[in-house]
Amino acid sequence: STGRLADARDRPLRDLRISVTDRCNFRCVYCMPKSVFGRDYAFLDRDELLSFEEITRIARVAAAHGVEKLRLTGGEPLLRRGLEGLIAQLAELRTPDGRPLEIALTTNGSALAMKAASLKAAGLTRVTVSLDSLDDELFQAMNDVRFPVGRVLDGIQAAHDAGLGPVKVNMVVKRGLNDHEILPMAEHFRGTPFTLRFIEYMDVGTSNGWELGEVVPSAEIVERIGERMPLAAVGATAPGETAARWRYVDGGGEIGVISSVTQAFCGSCNRARISTEGRLFTCLFASEGHDLRALLRGGIDDDGLADAMGAIWGARDDRYSEVRATLTPELRAARPKVEMSYIGG
Ligand code: GTP
Ligand code: 5AD
Ligand code: SF4
Ligand code: SF4
Repeated sequence: STGRLADARDRPLRDLRISVTDRCNFRCVYCMPKSVFGRDYAFLDRDELLSFEEITRIARVAAAHGVEKLRLTGGEPLLRRGLEGLIAQLAELRTPDGRPLEIALTTNGSALAMKAASLKAAGLTRVTVSLDSLDDELFQAMNDVRFPVGRVLDGIQAAHDAGLGPVKVNMVVKRGLNDHEILPMAEHFRGTPFTLRFIEYMDVGTSNGWELGEVVPSAEIVERIGERMPLAAVGATAPGETAARWRYVDGGGEIGVISSVTQAFCGSCNRARISTEGRLFTCLFASEGHDLRALLRGGIDDDGLADAMGAIWGARDDRYSEVRATLTPELRAARPKVEMSYIGG
């Protein structure tokens, strides 16, 4: 347990993103399109998932290696039965100098109105909610299960009321689909306690049929909003932070832009991911993970697990978003990639 672990590009390990289920009650067209994730899709069986005890062991070892922030993802993490029990276990963990870890959750918000209070009571620190449109018709078409936008807005408010803030709202922008919602979304959340973040549509997995032309560059988003409501850059983001921050010059808070495509942030990437079945991925775009579950179920002790995770991180050389632009579409297509719902956003 060094706490000074660094990868092959001298990046520390600070952030562990844990996918707790590969299932979701939404079928967002850019993530789990029905054409691929249909009735017959084979999701993981229960005994394939890491148990809460297994997740907590990995997180404990990660904390010894320098992880300060855990993020529960999926799929939709609130579909994992008894999630509050996992959160309570994770809330017991400490950094080497005795601080509790930050425990965040990225959710589609559909169950948040019901669960915000119990999540907070279990020890969750804060939530981020995905919301791609305020227009109910479009929102229902994008989640493709006709889930009404009003219930997600209620969930966002409930999270705030329960003390799970500052709540962030994530909008994935896909050109021609929801880019006309950029301005209404900005106007809606300006002056509220909620920080809206615009995300460039990424080529995660292989089912969403990603094309570069469907990406709206963050610079364009900032320009479109700034024409109506002047923006100024907020300097110096925290090391490894995904979002670049902008504030409204006339007051009303901030927005963020996550520019994985046009301005990759691999140089300071300090994130590792644990898939639902316990593979450690050193990049969102990695082709293969390292099977920690096999080690756990093979009876490895904590020192052995710490050595294994340290060796994997030490060898890490990933920087996919920085090299993406140099790949031809053919090369990109030939590269195996795992789905976001499995690896966790
Ligand atoms: P905060 O701690 O609230 O800043 O969260 P976050 O931005 O780390 O996580 P969130 O789950 O809100 O993710 C926002 C967007 O950034 C999603 O589209 C993620 O898939 C994407 N994202 C998060 N981490 C990475 C990363 O390491 N690489 C890339 N390319 N995208 C990432
Ligand atoms: N590109 C960018 N963001 C995506 N998300 C899901 N799929 C994609 C994609 N292809 C977002 C979700 C959620 C976060 C974890 O990742 O909307 O907010
Ligand atoms: Fe589910 Fe989130 Fe993927 Fe939408 S983006 S299908 S809500 S996991
Ligand atoms: Fe990190 Fe990979 Fe994302 Fe780059 S593409 S920021 S290395 S997860």
